[in-house]
Amino acid sequence: MDWGLKNRMSRIIRPDTGRSVMLAVDHGYFLGPTTRLEKPRDTIMPLAPYADVVMLTRGVLRTCVDAGIPNSVVLRVSGGSSIVGEDLSNEEIITSVEDALRLNASGIALSIFVGSKHEKQTLVSLSKLVDEGERYGMPVLAVTAVGKELGKRDARFLALSSRIAAELGAHIVKTYYCENFEKVVEGCPAPIVVAGGPKMTEKDALELTYNSISKGAVGVDMGRNIWQSDNPVAMIKSVRKIVHENATAKEAFEMFKELTKKK
Ligand code: R5P
Repeated sequence: MDWGLKNRMSRIIRPDTGRSVMLAVDHGYFLGPTTRLEKPRDTIMPLAPYADVVMLTRGVLRTCVDAGIPNSVVLRVSGGSSIVGEDLSNEEIITSVEDALRLNASGIALSIFVGSKHEKQTLVSLSKLVDEGERYGMPVLAVTAVGKELGKRDARFLALSSRIAAELGAHIVKTYYCENFEKVVEGCPAPIVVAGGPKMTEKDALELTYNSISKGAVGVDMGRNIWQSDNPVAMIKSVRKIVHENATAKEAFEMFKELTKKK
């Protein structure tokens, strides 16, 4: 890895722990003002101090995030479809690497839709983005999207998607936790971060975090299970305790309850 790429990677995955807490707040790019992310600034700013990375679009970064924040930024650069449109998998690259550099991003993220009608288009986009990322020292995070119609969150499908992302050159792969998750990790030579998925109880989300880390993920790129919690700061602190301090799910949940009580 060239110095610039290595440096940017170290701003995403902390070299001292080898792990990362990424706060995903990019949902509006296809969902619009989704619940508890209606006013992005109000959601992001109180949580930012506890995240290593914020993952979002350039529009929200420019309008809702103070340029003085110490966090690294991973910019979502794929899109072009919406929840009410014909097909969510019909994504293309929507932001240039030049703009990502201008925004001092530490990485760029794109979704791939393996098994969908637009599989080839999204995989070719990933390859092109990796070419550009390598040229400018910009890490590429591939998101293994699970389209509505696919409904597949099993190890076989996620291992397939994650491996393809790594083979095409993704520097980090974001996928979902599933049964036999270790098979997904084993088959993917790039570091894996786990998405939280739809809101579940805090206890379950902390268990998902713990299980992901103990089976080999380097971190989480979590959204709804943090900012849709009634106590989002307590939640991100508890996630952090697992990711960076090796706490168990039980210890982290105790911490969550304690912080909630204090609040
Ligand atoms: C989805 O495509 C977005 O990239 C989100 O960043 C991702 O799903 C993670 O957020 P959540 O933890 O809410 O699933």
